[in-house]
Amino acid sequence: MKRWGIAAIVLLLGRLRRRPRLPSAERIVQPGSADRGAESLVLALFACAALCGIAFPVVYAVDAIPNQTQFLGLALGLAFAFIAAACIVIAKRLVVTEELEEDYSLPARPDEEEVVAKIVEESGDRFTRKRLLLLAGAGAGTALGVALITPAASLGPVLDVSSLYRTPWRRGVRLVDEAGRGFRADEIEEDTFYTAYPEHAYREQMGAPLVVVRLQPEQLQLPAGRRGWAPRGIVAYSKICTHAGCAIALYRKPTFPPVQPRPALICPCHYSTFDPAKGGDVLFGPAGRPLPQLPLEIDAMGELRAGGNFSGPVGPSWWGVRNHGARS
Ligand code: FES
Repeated sequence: MKRWGIAAIVLLLGRLRRRPRLPSAERIVQPGSADRGAESLVLALFACAALCGIAFPVVYAVDAIPNQTQFLGLALGLAFAFIAAACIVIAKRLVVTEELEEDYSLPARPDEEEVVAKIVEESGDRFTRKRLLLLAGAGAGTALGVALITPAASLGPVLDVSSLYRTPWRRGVRLVDEAGRGFRADEIEEDTFYTAYPEHAYREQMGAPLVVVRLQPEQLQLPAGRRGWAPRGIVAYSKICTHAGCAIALYRKPTFPPVQPRPALICPCHYSTFDPAKGGDVLFGPAGRPLPQLPLEIDAMGELRAGGNFSGPVGPSWWGVRNHGARS
């Protein structure tokens, strides 16, 4: 490593100073014969690497491709393999190499620097299509770079983030259970929690599932502007934790008053704890904002329906989460 470092520094300095080169008659490295077959092989390997690099974002973008993950791994692995093979062919068949064993002192004099620079330059004499090879190598490297940064697209939409605010809830949508049955308000019991979905909507979307609990109406301390959101003490919140998007799956009721002062909704992933009586406020844990609350109404049949959309965007937070409210 030390020798390579010294050689690279000397080469750089030599190029910067633009000293006159030693006469070509004083070759240090004996010229090697051209090997166009090896060059063609390197070009082909770089081309294959570039194709694999380009294939990665294509496979990534087309969801319909079966076994997508395996193909992504294959494309990336082959791109690296082809580039590695090209480098091996260059090292073995195209770079003139010779090994000399002697003490090598630090290059202190300008002519010693020049000698090292000349050795490096003459070692590449066997290339007859140097520019084409450089271009092919750059193409393969660029394609591989594109493949490597492609997964960053999964971090979320960049320009249009409206889908992050959208939910299937709007005023009048009926709350149903997993079997599609509606929830009658008088069937909602205290000390337990229910999972509800919007009727006739796709349940897998992030804004769909709710947790529904019943509290004593006098326990409620909802934020200003949410009067009427909890008929008969029944409150509904998004089931998706605002920390990292796990499901709210525990309901802590105050079985042991000294340590459990009041009911709480809990995400078991990192134990974010939310207060259903106070608009989903964070009581404990890493979540950075309250659970979005859904206003409820009771229809003429005594069943629960949404009174509008959530109090805020559902799911884990992102850079613009506070810019808008939830949208239907
Ligand atoms: S995802 Fe809920 S606490 Fe981390």
